[in-house]
Amino acid sequence: MTKHKSYKIGVIGGAGYVGLVTSVGLASIGHNVLSQDLNLNRINLLKNGKSEVYEEGLENILSDLITQKLINFTHNIEQTISHSDVIFVAVGTPSLADGRADMSQIISVAEKLRDLIDHHTIVVVKSTVPVGAIEIIQDILSERLTIGEDFDVVSNPEFLREGSGLVDFYNPSRIIIGSNTDFARKSLKEIYQPLIQRDYKVSNPFSIKNQIIEILLTDPVSAQMIKYASNAFLATRISYINEIAGISEKVGGNISDIIYGIGLDPRIGSDYLKPGIGFGGPCLDKDLRALITLSEENYFDSVMLNGVLRRNDLQLQEVINKINFVLGSSLYKHKISILGLAFKEGTNDVRHSLSIRLAKFLIEQGAIVTGHDILAAKEAAEMEDKLIVSDNLNDVLNQAEIIIILNSEKIYSQIDWSIISPKTYIIDTRGIVNIDELKKYSIEYDILGTK
Ligand code: UGA
Repeated sequence: MTKHKSYKIGVIGGAGYVGLVTSVGLASIGHNVLSQDLNLNRINLLKNGKSEVYEEGLENILSDLITQKLINFTHNIEQTISHSDVIFVAVGTPSLADGRADMSQIISVAEKLRDLIDHHTIVVVKSTVPVGAIEIIQDILSERLTIGEDFDVVSNPEFLREGSGLVDFYNPSRIIIGSNTDFARKSLKEIYQPLIQRDYKVSNPFSIKNQIIEILLTDPVSAQMIKYASNAFLATRISYINEIAGISEKVGGNISDIIYGIGLDPRIGSDYLKPGIGFGGPCLDKDLRALITLSEENYFDSVMLNGVLRRNDLQLQEVINKINFVLGSSLYKHKISILGLAFKEGTNDVRHSLSIRLAKFLIEQGAIVTGHDILAAKEAAEMEDKLIVSDNLNDVLNQAEIIIILNSEKIYSQIDWSIISPKTYIIDTRGIVNIDELKKYSIEYDILGTK
């Protein structure tokens, strides 16, 4: 195997979802990684191989890296900057009230870099930042340093999905490098070379052999647009299928057959076309809003993207309508159980979870709401204190007049309906329940998108 160059890499925001997977991934392909975060609790846990962020398989790889001294965690940003030849910035860019991305964390990191860089450093922006932000970062650094001589800035957006972050790190659909300098482009290509050649320092179960990983070299603005346009397209698919599901339900169609049927066209495919309560989580909604704001700021009317957002905002109401249809307009003291509390299956992240939004609404209406999640029970209870949370599925099932399935967790498709009272009503927003079983036990149900 070729000997690859090992870079000294710092990751700022290294205990968040993106920063942590990036830190672990880069260390596991042979780079000397120092991962920094202001969250001291998370950093102390990570030093001991424990992660508050749930990613399948992460703690195993992390413990191998720690044993072999291939990764370090710190609270100290000064130490991280002086350690590194390349700094990956993975701090958050949450939405402001007007839809723009909040740049305050990025700006404060850029100011630190401006004040502390003492040798040539490549600053790689992983966080999804508004188009134009790379220039702002360059301007801040240029107040004391010289571009090209002291630093370079690269946009290298991530396409990791929460819960399958490591699968996506080891098998990226593409690596986008947005930079105007040859030196930075060459260095970034070198950093990812061991990944492309499947040369790992620790074993991982995620790598798919023979997959060709494409690197696209482009300018920073196009790199950022690729990120925004990708998330907006994914959001569009979800709003599209939610709209088709709504129409299908009215006219008596079966949404599973419809998805299968349209997906047979290879130009469309059936991936990422699951109807449901809408897209939640920290990325799609935020990035879609940021893209709409960007187009407005540039006097361009993004009719379509606004429609995607509007459908998503209406989707929760579709589920509430179904509940009212069964229980009537007053939900006071009605017992409702929600299955799936994180923003999607496979994660313990409850940020922008539409399940939690639904629970809050039902609780405000006086309903008694019980929720279940195999990974996010603790996080959901912390976010909504009036929600009764349990990780015992049978308890949650037995307490309800209505059970609402909100994510595609496998255990929800395998529920033993024989133990449920036939008076219970099932609302399945994901189309995963076994209808024959429900019929067998005379349980009434409503499948989103299917009459
Ligand atoms: C999304 C993108 O998929 C990643 O490529 C991207 O890197 C990431 O955002 C990001 O920008 O950081 P993520 O938010 O982790 O990843 O989760 P997704 O799996 O995309 O799901 C987003 C939401 O859409 C969830 O609420 C999910 O339940 C919903 N969804 C997804 C559907 O309703 N139907 C589907 O078919 C797929």
